[in-house]
Amino acid sequence: MKEFWLDWGKWKLKPKNDWKEKAKKTAALEAVKHVRDGFIVGLGSGSTAAYAIAEIGRKIREEEIEVLGIPTSTQAFYLAIRHGIPLTTLDEHPTIDLTIDGADQIDKKLNLIKGMGGALTREKIVALCSKKVVIVADETKLVEKLGENHPIPIEVVPFAVSHVISEINKLGGKPKLRETKGKVGPVITDNGNYILDVTFKQTENLTELNRKLKLIAGVVETGLFLRIADQAYLGKRNGDLMKLSRNR
Ligand code: 5RP
Repeated sequence: MKEFWLDWGKWKLKPKNDWKEKAKKTAALEAVKHVRDGFIVGLGSGSTAAYAIAEIGRKIREEEIEVLGIPTSTQAFYLAIRHGIPLTTLDEHPTIDLTIDGADQIDKKLNLIKGMGGALTREKIVALCSKKVVIVADETKLVEKLGENHPIPIEVVPFAVSHVISEINKLGGKPKLRETKGKVGPVITDNGNYILDVTFKQTENLTELNRKLKLIAGVVETGLFLRIADQAYLGKRNGDLMKLSRNR
């Protein structure tokens, strides 16, 4: 018999996506094999990166390696503490050996959309300070064309939100202020900002789009991670692992 869980929000039964959890864990465990004794490791955010954080904790306990973590979010911070990963900061260690993080969309060239967990700014800073960035996900995150049928999250200074919305409209984007669940009002990021989820009809030249978005006063960071990731492990429905690589 199939296992079911109740989605109270929609009042209907949904089959539990067990294969996805296994796929995410398989990908995360493979990525953690890159972690070596003495490494400074960037700790990604989201449910897939959480498996990697747990595995790094196990490696520290059982294989007695010394690793220092730099969390990309409050979530990663508390997970690192729970799994016994000693932490450091970018001020103490401005160069990170390896970052393991999740993604919301991945194309074959390893360009990404990130930020559905709202941690995009710290994730991008940590990734750009890293010698190597490994992405972990299940295979449903792999897409032909980035940004098609998916919003691009953009972190915005609250003071500037109306101005940013009007500038994004001029670029042909449709921004939607991300709202919290369980509390009324906008999501506040770990940096005290808002998130706009922006859909674009035209996603042909993402490098140019990213450049234009970053030029808007009040835009802190975009969820477009272009030519940043080096490798990706994608767990498949059949239990296999897909590996994608990019030369820097
Ligand atoms: C958070 C992110 C996450 O890495 C992304 O949302 C993927 O999360 P998950 O592994 O839960 O699907 O970018 O800002």
